[in-house]
Amino acid sequence: MSNNEDLFKKVISHSKEYGFIFPSSEIYDGLSAVYDYGQLGVELKNNIKQYWWKAMVQMHENIVGIDSAIFMHPSVWKASGHVDAFNDPLIDNKDSKKRYRADVLIEDYIQKIEDKIQKEIDKAAKRFENFDATLFRQTNGRVLEYQARIDEISKCFVDAMTTNDLAAIKKLIDDLAIVCPVSGSRNWTEVRQFNLMFATQMGSTTETADVVYLRPETAQGIFLNFLNVQKTGRMKIPFGIAQIGKAFRNEIVARQFIFRMKEFEQMEMQFFVRPGEELKWFEHWKQERIKWHHALDISENKYRFHDHEKLAHYANAATDIEFEFPFGFKELEGIHSRTDFDLNAHQQLSGKKIQYFDPELNESYVPYVVETSIGLDRMFLAIICNAYQEEQLEDGSVRTVMNIPPFLAPYKVAVLPLVKKDGMPEMAHDILKNLQENFNCQYDEKDAIGRRYRRQDAIGTPFCITVDNQTMEDNTVTIRNRDTMLQNRIAINDIHTTLNKLLQ
Ligand code: GAP
Repeated sequence: MSNNEDLFKKVISHSKEYGFIFPSSEIYDGLSAVYDYGQLGVELKNNIKQYWWKAMVQMHENIVGIDSAIFMHPSVWKASGHVDAFNDPLIDNKDSKKRYRADVLIEDYIQKIEDKIQKEIDKAAKRFENFDATLFRQTNGRVLEYQARIDEISKCFVDAMTTNDLAAIKKLIDDLAIVCPVSGSRNWTEVRQFNLMFATQMGSTTETADVVYLRPETAQGIFLNFLNVQKTGRMKIPFGIAQIGKAFRNEIVARQFIFRMKEFEQMEMQFFVRPGEELKWFEHWKQERIKWHHALDISENKYRFHDHEKLAHYANAATDIEFEFPFGFKELEGIHSRTDFDLNAHQQLSGKKIQYFDPELNESYVPYVVETSIGLDRMFLAIICNAYQEEQLEDGSVRTVMNIPPFLAPYKVAVLPLVKKDGMPEMAHDILKNLQENFNCQYDEKDAIGRRYRRQDAIGTPFCITVDNQTMEDNTVTIRNRDTMLQNRIAINDIHTTLNKLLQ
């Protein structure tokens, strides 16, 4: 097992052990690609939402938020293109009877070649001092051969995917001799399209019921409310509408924990601009969004942009912000210049005018849109994967610590009486009561103090306040820092200001 696979397994089991994430319906053996957030998970998730909302809505005078319904008129999804084109190419293996996403089979094949390149780099890095991986990639014969192979396959793959050429995808699987991971055979069916939207019925009887969909993205709720918000909020272009909410996709390949789920949350912002100014705003939002990520104090090397070369029919620029998860660099956020495609499509299908009168230009037009769209669950996963650390201590023991950025941590402070007697629990409860209004706190009096510190490290609590014998004499407590494990003594009266300063 590679170090990264090992790390990922540890993150998954740690998440369950400490109440961050549980498999859904566990007593019935779970439900594929569906997860529940536990008592700590919900706190971290809420903090991420708050961080995004603050940065995207409250810090901008020209961006407002909405919360639109999950159910929408079925025509919405016809206009948006989701009914006709929101498909995954699926393929079945006739021997194992297992179903796969054809594109994922090819991506995995490419990833295996990538892994070979990485192995060559790791080997060489061990041999040479001052090793330059970029130079090695550009000059080593074997690596160049692997890279040429990747480029060749990727070109065929991207062409087949963008033209929706199912026969070409099947041919690629045959040509690459990709086998079923279960049966080991190449006995494949043809590739078929499978729509990712969940459908249900709305109406009193089955005869009169309409098919409605669980929304696969939150963006359409924003497009449909464009005029409502613009008029009632007296918004002037350029302006944005943001939303956080659930989205649903019938993902067939359940993999990588909460990375790809059937029910997940998106944090999306549609920025409405003058036609012709969209590429300027696209660049602006690219930079703004990466700044938001970098402010989390996660190594900048963990992020990279992946600009799309082949664009969807409605976009004239698109990029992904990729994050280095333990299973490689993968999409965390998408930034898309969606032109006027969505508003135009709704205007046409509904027959209602969706235009903005620009007083400066003295003309009406359908605005262009730049979208930023990030998966809340993927952001959560990025944070916990990055935070999980096992540290070898001087006494030989191993400390598991979640280095979650303090302002996102589920609990900001734990209040701990050294022992369960001599008035310490009562004093600790008084301190807790005073802190609770401003900080999410935990109280813990069970087990020896060392074990309690370790428990707080494991859930990422940045500070522990301990009430000890000296507290009872001089009204001071110790404050312990999660990252340095150092303790200072401060007056009870100063706890509030000290925490505020440390958490800023
Ligand atoms: N409105 C644009 C849109 O929905 P997308 O690239 O399909 O674009 C945006 O999704 C983000 O939503 C992705 O970058 C990812 O973070 C998240 N996302 C998409 N599908 C997901 C899934 N099945 N599970 C978890 N997150 C998902």
